[in-house]
Amino acid sequence: MGFSTDAVHGGQQAEPTTGAVMTPIFQTSTFKQDGLGRHRGYEYARTQNPTREALERNIAVLERGKHAVAYASGLSAIAAIMHLFKSGDEVVVTENVYGGTYRLADTILSQYGLRFKFVDTSNLDVVKQAVTENTKLVFVETPTNPLLHLTDIQTVASLAHSSGALVAVDNTFMSPYFQNPLELGADVVVHSSTKFLNGHSDMVGGVVVVNDEALAERFRYIQNSVGAVPGPFDCFLALRGTKTLALRMRQHEANARHLAGWLSKHSSVTRLYYPGLDTHPQHELAKKQARGYGGIIALDVGPLEHAQHVLENVSLFTLAESLGGVESLISHPATMTHASVPREDRLRLGISDGLVRLSVGIEDVEDLENDLADALSF
Ligand SMILES: Cc1ncc(COP(=O)(O)O)c(C=O)c1O
Repeated sequence: MGFSTDAVHGGQQAEPTTGAVMTPIFQTSTFKQDGLGRHRGYEYARTQNPTREALERNIAVLERGKHAVAYASGLSAIAAIMHLFKSGDEVVVTENVYGGTYRLADTILSQYGLRFKFVDTSNLDVVKQAVTENTKLVFVETPTNPLLHLTDIQTVASLAHSSGALVAVDNTFMSPYFQNPLELGADVVVHSSTKFLNGHSDMVGGVVVVNDEALAERFRYIQNSVGAVPGPFDCFLALRGTKTLALRMRQHEANARHLAGWLSKHSSVTRLYYPGLDTHPQHELAKKQARGYGGIIALDVGPLEHAQHVLENVSLFTLAESLGGVESLISHPATMTHASVPREDRLRLGISDGLVRLSVGIEDVEDLENDLADALSF
């Protein structure tokens, strides 16, 4: 089936008792059992919930995977991946990952003896050097948040696999509409479903997708044992969101491509990051491993005062954390999403004080351009 058909129908069936076309919100914490040890597949809502399962089946289909396991947030899904490992194990991570991923690794998981190496995974020689026989996982975010650096998933997967390590890819920015890391050799795909998958900025959630049955079992075990499960209402919202993923992604991208082309000629912009531009250093890789370039743009406008001017003078773009909703958002990575990354590391990575990130929504692009034109006149 095509992607849009799968988005609407993948893993879905009418609810058996009433025929409800949309999976209802099973807002219950527990389920009646028919006798000792006899139940209908549902015991307790942390362990199983029909609304959650409908969402999981749908996302598995969209990611071209066999199993999806949903969590309460993108970060709890990433934490679940890390819970596969034990003290002393080594994890190689893309160096300019989402700030929350960095914070989780650096301040929480390292306390339990997991060892993290943050490296530039866009440079294959660096990955080769970083991966050792102690490496159990290579965790890649591509494109990265906020600088849109790309990692060659296929090559990193074969490198990691030759050392016996797993590969996980944070696919939040591309969504399964544009990129399917499992088909490129990754073992685990993770999403913050808060973002494009849900697409309406009205819930927080996360999901992992895998092909391997044993790995899926581990993720379900972690889901139940750690307990970071999404509520049924949030699952319902995310499932409503995935049905329009194709439509939304096409519009996000069309708008982003237009704005990136326009911004590339704007005199207030000192640097522009968008993989769809042929000036992006990894434009060819973007074309090779994805079917599009997404809806996120980063631009540098020089000094902090310029960034502040832009952020405070937009009226259609909303100054807010997060991305991937139907509405356009604007943010300042240095003080918002990446505030937990030490300043010297931020600057080394290119997350300067003048960097501004756009999550381009699905509004009329002329209105978005006019809004930015006003805000960019210093
Ligand atoms: C690329 C990426 N991964 C993971 C996360 C974390 O997701 P959540 O906020 O749903 O915990 C985010 C949040 O911004 C993100 O941008």
